[in-house]
Formats: sequence, C-alpha cells, structure tokens
Amino acid sequence: MRRERLSVVANEPVGPYTLLRVGRGGIDPGVPGQFFMLEAPGRLLPRPMSLCLAPSRELAFLIDAIGPGTRSLCALEPGYELHVLGPLGNGFDLEVERPLLVGGGIGVAPLPYLSERLGSPPAVLGFRSDWHAEAAALVPNAQVCVEPTLVTELIPAGLNVLACGPEPMLEAVRAVASGAQLAWEAPMACGYGACYGCAVEIDGRLKRLCVEGPVLCAA
Ligand SMILES: Cc1cc2nc3c(=O)[nH]c(=O)nc-3n(C[C@H](O)[C@H](O)[C@H](O)COP(=O)(O)OP(=O)(O)OC[C@H]3O[C@@H](n4cnc5c(N)ncnc54)[C@H](O)[C@@H]3O)c2cc1C
Ligand code: FES
Repeated sequence: MRRERLSVVANEPVGPYTLLRVGRGGIDPGVPGQFFMLEAPGRLLPRPMSLCLAPSRELAFLIDAIGPGTRSLCALEPGYELHVLGPLGNGFDLEVERPLLVGGGIGVAPLPYLSERLGSPPAVLGFRSDWHAEAAALVPNAQVCVEPTLVTELIPAGLNVLACGPEPMLEAVRAVASGAQLAWEAPMACGYGACYGCAVEIDGRLKRLCVEGPVLCAA
C-alpha cells in the first residue's frame, strides 16, 4: 500500500458514469476487487473506489456521481493532482475454475480489470436503463439486461460467481449462488482499519469491511 500524488490523465464519460484515468506513479494496481482511497477535492475525507482498469502507467476508476465527493472527482481536469492511497482490502480470489462475472449498475466498476486478469470469462450485467448499460462496453464477453429484467435471472447453475453491485442484488445473488464471491460496500473514512467507520455485521460479529473485505464469500 502506498500514498502518492497522481496526475489526472483524462476524464471520459461512459453513459452516466465517468472514467477517471490517473497516472500510476509507483502505485501497484493490486488484485481486482481491492480498492483505493481517492482524495475528493473540497471534501475532508477521501472516497473509496475500486480499480476499473489498469492500462500501462495508469489507474482508471469508473465513478457514479451520486454526491459531493464523487461529483468533485468526476469534474477533475487533466493535469490536476490528487492523493491516492492503495491498493487496500481483500480482492477476488482468482483461483476459480469456471468464473462468471456478475455486475449491477456501478457495480460493473471492478469487472473490466477482473475480466482482464481472468482472460475474459463470461459476464452478466444488469442496468436500470440503456444509458447506464453503455458501461457494459468495458467488459468483454458480457450479456446485458435492463430493468425490469434482473441480472440474477441470467445466472446459470454450476459456475463460480464473482459479483459486485447494490446490496439487494448481492443478497439475490447469494440466494442463487451460495459459493459466490461478493464485493460489498460501506461508507469508509480511512480505508485501512483505523476508524471503524465501515463496521458491518458478518457472521453475527462486527467487522471492518475495509480489512475483512470488501470481497467476502457468500457462504
Ligand atoms: C470498497 C468500495 C469500493 C467502491 N467503488 C466504487 C467505484 O468503483 N465507483 C463508484 O462510483 N463508487 C464506488 N464506491 C462508492 C463510493 O465510494 C461512494 O459512492 C462515495 O463515497 C460517495 O461519496 P459522495 O461524497 O459522492 O456522496 P455522499 O454524500 O458521501 O453519499 C451519498 C449517499 O450515498 C450513501 N453512501 C455513500 N457511500 C456509500 C457506500 N460506500 N455504501 C453505501 N452507501 C453509501 C450516503 O449515505 C448518502 O446517502 C465504492 C465504495 C466502497 C466501500
Ligand atoms: S474505513 Fe476506517 S476502519 Fe474501515
């Protein structure tokens, strides 16, 4: 894990989302599903983001502007320098025989890098509109559905599911794929175990999602 000041290379729209590309500096891209804390200009606390793509000498983050921090990140211009800390947490276990990537909405964010590292396995992606579904272009070999069809309807039996998406989607994935690896979210202040701001109940005990997760086994 390192903290460095990295320069914005580009800021590209992908449907309603923004692909923020920054120079990599000396930061390791880590394992897919790990995350980075990005300084959000004008905000006190950094914001956690999954790595979306790791082109040579760059780190790229797919961001949904839902509040002040993400809006400020999506507005960054090339040349702006921001602090980035990572990689953090536990990513996906890549030692799986028959991977199926499952994503919902902005949960698609870590899947392009995951797909690259796993050799472009099949993926099923669900979005709320055709506009949001433009992000599916980042994931090769993907079957896409738009509401009211739900992505869980596209999951065949017998595959090793690796999923990221909103909590109700992850609960639904857990119900149909008990051995799935699921990337969860919680509001995070530090990202490395110091503040307990991300504490969630796991197996009846409070645990820090930034340390124990964000990827957890559904079982
Ligand atoms: C490990 C991890 C990886 C993430 N990866 C990405 C990513 O790749 N792309 C992306 O767009 N977003 C990602 N997020 C979510 C992102 O960090 C939040 O959307 C962001 O921090 C919101 O900041 P804000 O200032 O824009 O909005 P805020 O004003 O902080 O939040 C807006 C609303 O969303 C709620 N909220 C904020 N953060 C979370 C959260 N983590 N979980 C549930 N509810 C929340 C708040 O309670 C509030 O209601 C990730 C979160 C985690 C924990
Ligand atoms: S975000 Fe601080 S302990 Fe997890």
